[in-house]
Amino acid sequence: MEQFRYMHDRLWCEGTDLEECAGRFGTPLYVYSRQSVIDHCRWIESAFGNEDHLSCYALKANSNPSILRILAGERIGADVGSAGELGLALDAGFPAGQITFSGVGKRDDEIAGAIRQDLLSINAESDEELKVISHIAQELHKRARVSVRVNFDIQSDTHPYITTGRKHNKFGVESSRAEEVFREASTLPGVELLGVHSHIGSQITSSETFAAAARAIVELTDRLRRHGINLSLLNFGGGFGVRYRDYVAHPRLPVEAENPESNLTTVSMLKEILPILRSARCKILIQPGRSMVAHAGILITKVLYKKRSGGKTFIIVDAGMNDLIRPSLYQSYHQIVPLNVGHADGDRHEVVDVVGPLCETGDFFALDRTMPAVERGEYLAVLCTGAYGYVLSSNYNGRPKPAEVLVDADRSELIADREPVEKLFVKRIV
Ligand SMILES: Cc1ncc(COP(=O)(O)O)c(C=O)c1O
Repeated sequence: MEQFRYMHDRLWCEGTDLEECAGRFGTPLYVYSRQSVIDHCRWIESAFGNEDHLSCYALKANSNPSILRILAGERIGADVGSAGELGLALDAGFPAGQITFSGVGKRDDEIAGAIRQDLLSINAESDEELKVISHIAQELHKRARVSVRVNFDIQSDTHPYITTGRKHNKFGVESSRAEEVFREASTLPGVELLGVHSHIGSQITSSETFAAAARAIVELTDRLRRHGINLSLLNFGGGFGVRYRDYVAHPRLPVEAENPESNLTTVSMLKEILPILRSARCKILIQPGRSMVAHAGILITKVLYKKRSGGKTFIIVDAGMNDLIRPSLYQSYHQIVPLNVGHADGDRHEVVDVVGPLCETGDFFALDRTMPAVERGEYLAVLCTGAYGYVLSSNYNGRPKPAEVLVDADRSELIADREPVEKLFVKRIV
C-alpha cells in the first residue's frame, strides 16, 4: 500500500527513481503514486465488507483531475464543497447520484446547480439555508434531497483550525436545536429530508472521539425516528488521522522521536465505530479525504542554500509556503528526507530549519529538525503531502504554482503543468 521507499540509498515511488524524476520535471514538484491512491481507497472500502454504504471522497483534500479519475474509477462517491468542486467531480466521472454537497456558505447559484444535477444530498448547515434550498427547489419545480449537518460539540484532539464539530465552530446546527430544525425541515415543500450529517474535524487519531461522535449521531437518529422523522442516510464525518512521522525508513535516517500519533489506522478506527453506526439502521456514508490521498503524494524540493546564522543552520529550499502551507498554517509535521541518502555526508546528522524562499518567517517546512546533512543542489522530499498540499498552493510572493506528476509503475506523466512565471505578468523581463 505504501509506495515510497528506499532502494540502494535512493528514494523510489513504485518503479520510478525520484531523483531522475526531479531532474526531468524540475522542482518544486508534487509526485503521486497511482497505486497508492487505489490501495488506500480499496483498504478503506474493505472495512465495510458487504455492507450497503457509500464513501464520498472529499475533493478538498486533492482535486487534481487525474487523481479524481482514479477514485471515480473505484466507483466510490464524492463530497464537494463548491460549484468548482462539483464540476471537477462530474468531469472526473463521479455520478451525480453519488455526490454530496457540504459547506457552510453555499451561494444560491451553487444550490440551484446542485438541485439541477439531482445530487445525492445537499448537506444544509442552518435553518435559513434549508429555507433557501426549499425556495430554490420550488422555483425549479423540483424537490432537493437534503441532509442536515448537526454540530454535536465533540471535543477532538486535533489542531484548532481543523476542528469542525465544536460548539464555537461555524459548522452545522447546534445539537440542542437539532430536533426542532429537522421538524421544520420535514415540512418544507421543496425539501426531501434524507439524512443527518456530521463532521467533527480532520486528522483525528482517537477512536474514543469517533465513538462519542458516532453515539451522538445514532442517538439523534433514534430520537427523530421516535418522533416520526425517518431518515435513510447517516453521513458520518470526522477525518481519519494518518501517520506523518517515520513514514519511510533507512539506516541513515534518524528515527523521529516518540510517535505522538496513535497507532490506530483508518480501518481499525472505522471497524470500531461501524457497529455503533449500524444500529441506526440507515445507509452509512463517510467523507474521507486525507486518509485516501495523504500517503499517495510527496513534494520534492531542491536545496538552494545552506547558511549558519544566529546559532542555527538554515536549509533554504526552492519550495515555499505557497507550495505547501500546512507547516506554516497548522504547525503540521512532515518527515523530510533526501532523495539520495548515499551522498558523502549521508551518515552525519545536523539540526536544521528547512525554510522556503518567501518573505515570511512563517515560511518553513521544519524547525530544529535532525536530518542527514545536505548541501546545495541536493533534493529533499517532504513526505505525505498528497492531501491539502497542491490544493492549498497559491501565487503568494509572485510565485508560480508547482507541477504535479503521476507515477504508474516505471512511468511518470505530468498531470499539472508547472505554471509559467510569465502567466503572472504581462511585461517582458528577460
Ligand atoms: C464536511 C467535511 N467532509 C470531509 C472532510 C475531509 O476530512 P479529511 O480530509 O480529514 O478526511 C472535511 C474536512 O475538513 C469536511 O469539513
